[in-house]
Amino acid sequence: MAKCCVLFVATMCLASLLVASADWNILNQKTKSGLKISLRNYCESWRINVELNNIREFSVVPSECTDYIGKYMSEAQFKADSEATIEECTLYLNTHCEIKKDGKDAWIFDIDDTLLSTVPFYKKHGNGGEKLNATDLEGWMAQGKATAIDYSLNFFNDIKRRGMQIILISSRKEYLRDATIDNLVDAGFHGWKSLYLRGAEDECMKVEEFKGGVRKELVKNGYRIWGILGDQWSSIKGVETGRRPFKLPNSLYYVS
Ligand SMILES: *[C@@H]1O[C@H](CO)[C@@H](O)[C@H](O)[C@H]1NC(C)=O
Repeated sequence: MAKCCVLFVATMCLASLLVASADWNILNQKTKSGLKISLRNYCESWRINVELNNIREFSVVPSECTDYIGKYMSEAQFKADSEATIEECTLYLNTHCEIKKDGKDAWIFDIDDTLLSTVPFYKKHGNGGEKLNATDLEGWMAQGKATAIDYSLNFFNDIKRRGMQIILISSRKEYLRDATIDNLVDAGFHGWKSLYLRGAEDECMKVEEFKGGVRKELVKNGYRIWGILGDQWSSIKGVETGRRPFKLPNSLYYVS
């Protein structure tokens, strides 16, 4: 009887696994070349190719990988990967930046998933598996409850101590300015030089163009952009990307 029960439970588990992972055949999955891989291998390949900017413009995380990505984003590996990014930024600053401290040395930051975490929002929306509802996301942002990403806060303060100007460029809309400032301050971010958000006239532009346009203006005004820290390729590509752009990992969504 007990044995039968275990078997029954095991069968049910396997059945639910097969259902949960949609069309993924977990028992016999092969790549095109015939290499046998697991669902985990498959999802990790997807994730790393997002980071490499080979997979672009995805609107949702593939359904068979939402559990994997949700787990990655909330466990130690994501934090370790992100902290390694910050360490590289610090190493670069220590070894390659001779700043003048004349008020024109600048470092640029994104806001969402660079300084403030939207992971809790995405967790509630299928770990990137649901098509983004902008109204819902902006409603969540308007509440101003996003928490600081601790290693980014430390780095932000490090930049400040070095006497560099902090410039924030975000694809958040202009109407969220007050909520965004309140949220940043509540989360511990103080002392940035300027905050650029997307006005109505910028909304028809791609994010990469908008952010590039702001950087071009900064350079025209004499700023030396030493680096950018962002979580999206659209934040670190395009014109005037500074001396060294750095990308934090983010497998939950793609902003083009
Ligand atoms: C987005 O969510 C709101 C409510 O939160 C809903 O009224 C609206 O229909 C949704 N939009 C889409 C495109 O699904």
